[in-house]
Amino acid sequence: MSFNIIGTGRALPKKCVTNDMLASFLDTSDEWIYTRTGIKERRILTDESLLDLAYECSLAALENAGVAAEELDLIIFSTLQGDYISPSLCCLLSKRLGAVCGRQLDINMGCSGFIYALDIADSYFRADKAQKVLVVCAEAMSRISDWTDRSTCVLFGDGAGAVVLEKGDGFKAINLTVDGAYEDLYVPIPQGNCPYSPHSDEEGFLKMNGQDIYIFAVSAVVREINAILEQEGITPDEPDYYILHQANTRIIDSARKKLKQPAEKFPVNLDRFGNTSSATIPIMLDELNRAGKLKNGGKLIFCSFGAGLTTGVCAIEWTKQ
Ligand code: ACO
Repeated sequence: MSFNIIGTGRALPKKCVTNDMLASFLDTSDEWIYTRTGIKERRILTDESLLDLAYECSLAALENAGVAAEELDLIIFSTLQGDYISPSLCCLLSKRLGAVCGRQLDINMGCSGFIYALDIADSYFRADKAQKVLVVCAEAMSRISDWTDRSTCVLFGDGAGAVVLEKGDGFKAINLTVDGAYEDLYVPIPQGNCPYSPHSDEEGFLKMNGQDIYIFAVSAVVREINAILEQEGITPDEPDYYILHQANTRIIDSARKKLKQPAEKFPVNLDRFGNTSSATIPIMLDELNRAGKLKNGGKLIFCSFGAGLTTGVCAIEWTKQ
């Protein structure tokens, strides 16, 4: 037996940065950003820490699930970069939540982190090592964005989403892929000061070849969705929602058109939040859940892509009572 998703939560920084605000210090415009990406604004951390966001969305998910932090057997925290390199943010989060489980880990699988975390959780449930699991995705993209590079910094935002899982049969299938290519999307590590190792001048900012990632994403998303639909023996019409990684509305629209589905089935929030890496899918899921749009027994497809280059796709039956 695997798991059901029984609670969701999200947290966004209070500072809203519009495209026009970016155009005040970058050679860009609201028109360029919106037509190329679908983004109108994003939230950016100011005096909040990533831990603050993680705590807020975890608390919301636990309350939504009716689960106390003490009941958790496992916490999986997905982030590209926490508040510290060490300790892992899961340790600080569990202390603040009052969780007592020893099984906790941070993972860094970029934008696919949420799907990878679900895969890890699935293994714990199947091994009977967990009854209740918290998956948290919290990302501070503003810290690794180069705010002088108009081709990347306009795309991202900060945010966090969480889900609470408990034993059940709602998790139906998952597929993950990694191709090991890094040149098109990577973040260099901060330089140390070891006198014996060569130092590069490269700064610790996200580097991306947007066009190559775009080409990768438009073919990978449809390929992976079609594969999991076939695996599960369901037609593209059957899922209630396809919750895709929120990187670019053109990528989402391209997948939707190839699958011949209406826009309502491919919800979008990147107009308000930008690309929050691994947090995009749990944030979107929480919005749908709290708006009462998820019906019991409904089929959901989650699909992500990102640095690695990775893809992650999974099929869920929504079973929250
Ligand atoms: N404002 C104005 N002009 C800009 C900006 C900007 N913010 N950024 C780039 N430009 C210019 C470029 O310099 C270029 O000018 P040139 O023709 O004079 O050289 C022109 O706009 C076109 O640039 P392209 O890169 O060809 O624009 P494109 O249509 O490909 O859109 C984008 C770029 C939005 C990045 C697109 O390629 C994309 O979305 N790629 C996928 C990115 C993605 O999904 N990343 C996330 C995946 S993983 C993760 O989530 C971490």
